[in-house]
Order: sequence, then C-alpha cells, then structure tokens
Amino acid sequence: PVEDRVNDLLHRMSAEEKAGQLTQFFYFGSFTAVPDDFDLESLPPEHRAFVEQPAMVRQAVRDGRAGSLLFVKDAAVANQMQRIAMDETPLGIPLIFGYDVIHGFRTIFPAPIGIAASWDPQLAEDAQSVAAREARAAGIHWTFAPMVDITRDGRWGRIFEGAGEDPCLGSAMAAAQVRGFQGDLGRESLIAGPKHFAGYGASAGGRDYDDADISDAELHNVYLPPFRAAIDAGAGNVMSAYMDLNGVPASGNRWLLTDVLRDQYGFDGWVVSDANAVRSLETQHFAKDLTDAGARALGAGLDMEMCMFEPAYANLPSALEQGLVTKDALDQAVHRVLTAKFRMGLFENPWADEEQAPPVLGRDDHREASRTAAERATVLLKNSGVLPLADGGQRIGVFGHLADSRRDTLGPWVFAHDLDETVTILAGLRARAGDVEVEFVPATAVPQRLSPSIFDQQETTPLPATPADFDAATERARAVETAKTCDVAVVVLGQPQNMIGENASVSTLDLPEDQIELLKAIHATGTPTVAVVMTGRPVDLRWAQHNVEAIVQVWYPGTRGGEAVARVLFGDVSPAGRLPFTWPRHVGHVPIHYAHHRTFAPQDQDKRYWDEPSTPLYPFGHGLSYSSFEYGDLEVPENLGVGETGEVRFTVTNTGESTSDEVVQLYIHQRHGTSSRPVRALKGFQRLHLGPGESRQVTLELGPEQLRYWSAVTRDWIQDATVLDVWVGGDSTAELTATVTVTA
Ligand code: IFM
Repeated sequence: PVEDRVNDLLHRMSAEEKAGQLTQFFYFGSFTAVPDDFDLESLPPEHRAFVEQPAMVRQAVRDGRAGSLLFVKDAAVANQMQRIAMDETPLGIPLIFGYDVIHGFRTIFPAPIGIAASWDPQLAEDAQSVAAREARAAGIHWTFAPMVDITRDGRWGRIFEGAGEDPCLGSAMAAAQVRGFQGDLGRESLIAGPKHFAGYGASAGGRDYDDADISDAELHNVYLPPFRAAIDAGAGNVMSAYMDLNGVPASGNRWLLTDVLRDQYGFDGWVVSDANAVRSLETQHFAKDLTDAGARALGAGLDMEMCMFEPAYANLPSALEQGLVTKDALDQAVHRVLTAKFRMGLFENPWADEEQAPPVLGRDDHREASRTAAERATVLLKNSGVLPLADGGQRIGVFGHLADSRRDTLGPWVFAHDLDETVTILAGLRARAGDVEVEFVPATAVPQRLSPSIFDQQETTPLPATPADFDAATERARAVETAKTCDVAVVVLGQPQNMIGENASVSTLDLPEDQIELLKAIHATGTPTVAVVMTGRPVDLRWAQHNVEAIVQVWYPGTRGGEAVARVLFGDVSPAGRLPFTWPRHVGHVPIHYAHHRTFAPQDQDKRYWDEPSTPLYPFGHGLSYSSFEYGDLEVPENLGVGETGEVRFTVTNTGESTSDEVVQLYIHQRHGTSSRPVRALKGFQRLHLGPGESRQVTLELGPEQLRYWSAVTRDWIQDATVLDVWVGGDSTAELTATVTVTA
C-alpha cells in the first residue's frame, strides 16, 4: 500500500532530503539557448543568474534539494533530469514535473474565459483532456490549472484565464476542467492544481498582486465555491495566492490553507505556492526573514515552495532545529508530496515516452477539437442583420493587424504551440471565402507596454512589432480606399495577447486610439462593418455598439481560431456563446457584476450615476445567435420545504429559421431572510441544440444546493424560509418569472 511505502521512505529521509522534496524549481533551460563559448561575464548579474540557472537546478536535483521542476516541456529533457534524480541521489525519488498547461499544450484552445463563454462544461472537460494527453506525452505530470479565481474587474490581467464573475458558472467550469485534466490519473492525465487560493481576483484596483479585502460572506458565497467544486471533483493539488487576503498573505494564511481547505473542504492533496510566494512573505513584511517565511508557510499548511533561485524551504532543517516548525508538520507535507508521486505511478514508471510524444502532439483530431471549441466560445454581441455573410459573391475587406497575428490568435500562457499551424482570422476568411477576393490592410499599430515584462522574455519567437515605417494616417487612408471597394468590412479590434495575463493589468478599458479611428473611418465609407473583438477582457465598445452593424467577441480563439471565426461569420455554425461577465460601458463602471444586492431606492438602480446609466453595455449571460428563441410553460413548486429539492420546468422553442444552440439560464432572488441576497443569482444552465421550430422541455433543480448561503449573521451556511423569485431565459435579464414559497 502507498501509505507503507511513503512511511518507509519518510523514515529513511534526512531533514535536508525532506526539504528537497518540498522544493520546486523553475527550469529556465527551455528559454535560454546560450552558445557554449558565450561570455557570461559580459551580462549584467541579474541576467547572468537566469543563464546559469539551469546548471544550478541540475545540481540541486543531484544534491536531493529538489522534488519537482516546472517549465520542462520536452520529453527528452524531462528524462535527463529524471535520470539524475533516480540514479544519482541516494533514495532515487522521482521528480514530479509541473507546467502552466492553461488552455492547451501544442494544440491551443480558446483562452479559458472563452471556454467559459461556451457555457458548456463538457467542452471544457474535453479540451483539458486533450491538453493533458499532449502535455503528459511531453513528460509533464501536473498542471497549474484551472485558474478558478472569480473576478469582477476587467482591468485585472488574469480575467482572461478564469471563468468570469459568477460562482455557479465558475464552479461548473472548475469541476469540468479538473475532470478533463485528471481523467483516470493514468498515462494520459495531469494532476490539476486549481489556483490561486484565494481571493486573487479581487485585488485592489484590478492591479495584479495588490491586496484583496473581501468580507467573509463574499469569500464563502462567491470566491471560494469554485475551489470547493474543483476539490470535490478530485483536484490533487492547490496553488496558494500571492496577495494579502484581509491582512494576511494567502501563502502564510493558516485559516485559508488549513481551516478552510483541509478541515472544511477535506482537501487531501498537496499545496504549492505561487512562484516565489514563500520568499515573498518576507518581501511583504509578514515574515522577518527567509527562515521565518519558510516556517510560517509550512505551519500554515503550504507543502511545496515554487521558486526560481533560492528556496526559503532550504532553511526548514534549521527551522526544525530552532523549534520553529515541528517534525510532524514537516513529515506531513512530505507525506502529501510522496503520496502524489506514488498515486501518479512515478515510482513504477518515472519516464516520458520520447517516441510517443511526436504522434500525440501531431494529432489532427486535437486541432479539430480546438476549432469546435472556438466556434462554441464565440459570442455575437450585436447583429443588425449583416451576419451571416452571404456565401459567395461579396468582396470582403479585412482590417486591423490582429486579423493576421498568429501569436495573438493563440492568446497568453502558451509555450509549446506551433505558429506555423495557427490559423489567423485573415487566413480563415480567405480559406472559407473561396474564389471571393479578401483584401487586407493591417492599418493598426502594436500597442507597447510601459515597462518590459519577464513574460515576454519567455516567448520562443519574436513578438509581433509595428513596422518601422508605419504611419497610422497613411495606413488608415489605404484601408478606407480598400473598404470603399468592398461589400463588407471586417475590422479586427482588441488587445495583443501580452496586454493581458499575469502582471498585465490595465488602467483603462479603452481600445487603442488608432483602432477606434480606423473603425470610425471604415464605417464612414458606408460599407457594412463587422467589428470582431479579440480580447480576454471587456473593452469600451460604446461607439461600436451604437454605430457598426455587428460585433463579435472571439476572445483569443486558439490554433484553429481563424477557421472557427470564418465559419461563424459565414453562418456555417450559429454563434451561441454567452458572456461570463457583465460588460461595463467603460472603465468607470468597474468593478461591476450582475449579482449585486438590492439596496435603498431600488427603483433607481439603473441611475446610480449622475451623468449616464449605471446599467452595463451587455448583461451577464448575453449573446445572440442566428435564430430566435421563446420561453414558456414555466412550472415551479408552489411550496418547497427547507432542505427539499424541487424542479423548475419550462419549454424553450427555436422560433427562427436556423439551427442553433441556446443557453438556457435559471436565476433566483430571495425576497427576505437572515441576510440580504443578490437581486439575481444564476442557479442552473444548459446549452441546448435546437433545429428550426423545435421545442424542448428543460428541467433544472432547486434545492439546498442552490438555496443555501453563508450568512454573516449566523457565520455559517444556512437556508432560509422565504419567498423566491425565479426567472428563466437566455440572459441575466430574463423576464419569464414565477415565485416559490420556501417553508420552514
Ligand atoms: O502558475 C503560475 C501562476 O499562475 C502565476 N505565477 C507563476 C506561476 C508559474 O508559472
């Protein structure tokens, strides 16, 4: 049994070897290809450290000072490192390899926010099982995903990586991704590590890493449920967050990492820190030095430290001697890590199959799956009838550099992709349009960030850049002349992939000025204009909404994204994605979410600002299709006892002429109770496929699972006897309603 084997090893390990098992090093060998004769002394010390880092890590593995590596992405390199751990250390404990497999490995799926916009948990599960198969073939055992942080602030860079603002949708997506990654925990699986525990998405001002102040009620009702769902789905790992949560750094927060995670949620896997987050306990002026940082992180329940150079956990043996940590705490953490290695079968077979990697990474069905996912993720925000495009005969103009940027089509957090097989929107449209001419003028510049980012340095190919002789006015004039000769203009707007993600928050949601100028100029030609938006966050689309004929949100659509976008624009498939967040009018409206509480003067809810409506530009759950749907026959239980489960039934009919999916959504509001509750809260949804004229009866459950909440009054989970308003429909403004009396 695993337990005996773990205990046997533990008895034979020194404190140093134990600390080693609790240490995970970055391996920068994949990024820094330096010729042998390179003069290292010529580099500034901070750069030299990065170049020398792979050799340092190899030595750490040899010395038993590392139990895990991240950023090894090649089966042969994984095997080299593994051979050192197995053959050159006294105990021969295998390494476990982690990586950020966020939305694909070689095959890139739409950014996670796009997958969430599909409102299709099965799609999320299938996509992550493809990612797991590919990454595992490359020697990776564990992914730092899914990112399940709720956020209600589009400025925050990592919004693209989660499932948006809502705990119900977020929990469904979290659990589905865990199932997809982990499967049967066999040779095609990865261990899933939901992150960042917890509250990272509420960082002040949307500024990455800044502190989060969240009430206990918001934590339990909004921010924590997706973690719980991921753990209930069997997630083997959890990553702790960087920032201070209510005054205590998450990575040194015993209440979070032990009381909630272990005692309340029953999590039995291991916790890893975010990169350098244990050291950061000192930086954040919580710990007095690195020894204190390591001791307090371990004491809080953080098992493994992820670090780049000098681990704080290297000081655990001395912390043990000084009585700052107990042997039990140290052993318990090592126990968790070794158990995971046994469960993954690493002691039996630690090797990556180098022969198997190329065929798995080259699978066509994986690329096909990425196209289908991108189609299902696409959200039609506006359509006055110009879409779908006529099949044949129309001359199409395509504008905006993002239309032909392979790297941006893939989105952030990808490392093993192949640019050559990436289909841009321009390429997709050209292939789909057949004989029809598709003209292209890039016409927009690549926005530049204020200060360099370490993430850009991890790129394997140079990032797109604005040509040296680029002149916006000249380019725009060229675009206008082209647009005049076209029957329809497709203007691709948005943000390059490195304008979002970790350490890429923004202070405005405005699109770059030259993009808006271009859109206005093209629209002024009178050519019907479709705005295609490539972002992972909401941007200010007020002008577009009021002026252009159609707006399509495509996120960062992935390897076959351009093909998917073309198929949607031509109507080969009807769009049916829905917004996983409330789309603000502009940056002054964030943070924003639909599930706010009813307050004083609710009749003025839409007039909270002096100067403009306080309603969003598009509500949560919004998305159009090429068909139309009607809801009817709503039946709810008239009375429902506390603790009982009843059914909400209704019929949805495709009243249009196209086959299309429809995402049906169930919202509730509790009229009175121990605490006040949101004006509306999503409690169930389903994505249906309906032909013209087809009807379907839908049944969704309403019971304690949906009605319990954490009350700041009782400081516990409760369900009230109350009256509920229930709505069903296609977005969070659904009108078909009924009431349910919940009796004690
Ligand atoms: O997994 C990530 C995390 O989400 C943010 N910081 C770096 C980690 C490793 O790349």
